[in-house]
Amino acid sequence: MNTDLLRAQTPACQDLIHFNNAGAALSPQPVNDALFQHLLLEQRIGGYEAADATQVAQENFYHAFGRLLGCNPREIAYMENATRAWTLLLQAMPLTQGDRILTGQSEYASNYLTLLHLVKTRHIRIDVVPNDSNGQICLQTLREKVDEDVRLIALTHIPSQSGVIHPAAEVGKIARKHRIFYLLDACQSAGQINLNVDEIGCDMLTGSGRKYLRGPRGTGFMYVRQSMQDYLEPPSVDLHSASWTRKDSYTLRDDARRFENWEHYVAGKIALGVAADYACDLGLDAIETRVCALAARLRARLAELPGITVHEQGENLSGIVTFSDSSQDAASLQKRLRHHNINTSVARLQTNLLDFSKRKLPDINRASLHYYNTEAEIDSFCQVLATRN
Ligand SMILES: Cc1ncc(COP(=O)(O)O)c(C=O)c1O
Repeated sequence: MNTDLLRAQTPACQDLIHFNNAGAALSPQPVNDALFQHLLLEQRIGGYEAADATQVAQENFYHAFGRLLGCNPREIAYMENATRAWTLLLQAMPLTQGDRILTGQSEYASNYLTLLHLVKTRHIRIDVVPNDSNGQICLQTLREKVDEDVRLIALTHIPSQSGVIHPAAEVGKIARKHRIFYLLDACQSAGQINLNVDEIGCDMLTGSGRKYLRGPRGTGFMYVRQSMQDYLEPPSVDLHSASWTRKDSYTLRDDARRFENWEHYVAGKIALGVAADYACDLGLDAIETRVCALAARLRARLAELPGITVHEQGENLSGIVTFSDSSQDAASLQKRLRHHNINTSVARLQTNLLDFSKRKLPDINRASLHYYNTEAEIDSFCQVLATRN
């Protein structure tokens, strides 16, 4: 990986240390170019006319995600964010009173809130599978919880608030063995590690554009396995997702785009396709190797600093590093780092109730690294933490 070139394509790297890639990564120049060019075209010739002129670039979005996830482009839909994708899929499932959903301890807050909403509106039951001593979903407990009422396993692959990578493919084997549907939140894993939906064995997968994929904000995607599509009833339809075939009936599109809306962020969709291609061209294995090595280096350096506690447990860890400083609360430390032009974020107890209550954690700091970060940035970061000013 040519880090100098990658950084040259990421101009903000000159001015700041961006360790907030799990929040929103910095987009590379080709992604920004695609975004701005389309917006300029809209400004010059009009929105509908610009959309007509860029059909090929828009279609590329589906092909790029087919390539990224190892699936057919017909199994991909464009979404405005990951939460919308997750919610639509859950609402589309024919879940009724008494059905059970198995989920993980480290679920993203909005994902879990959607499950709670289903408890309220459809009277389903949620069963949370705890993590094991490695911080990963306990596969043995998951197996034990499976019974004939379980309709779905809904899991976050890499949590927002911890560097652990859950064993998504092992979960997929359990789901397949028992013929249970499987929805995976790949928000933090897409663009960070190699994802192949057949190897994982998931039926549905959701993600966001702005994180490790380095796409624009306000973009996301979903994957729905072809064989699953007719089983799902989209909670709403419009003139894009369905055809008004007779006065009193309609036919749904025969691909995953049945979950899309007609009106959407065309520039964002084009640019997100470019971002997925950019990641594939670099190679997801190479990306994962570099991201994980940088994060491991940061964890090791942090562990040497007095007063700093690193919270990651486990063996299989991602680019997300969480820690606390005994001399400062998480929000103050984030602010202090910001004064040094270092971007990080805070993982809050309030939005990680299940996980943080179990691990007895307050709000904690999060540094999330990407391949365009450097060893020198890690040194500077630790220097700032050590000097405490
Ligand atoms: C693991 C995980 N899932 C889902 C989401 C929600 O993504 P979005 O904001 O695109 O809806 C996030 C956002 O931080 C996340 O980290």
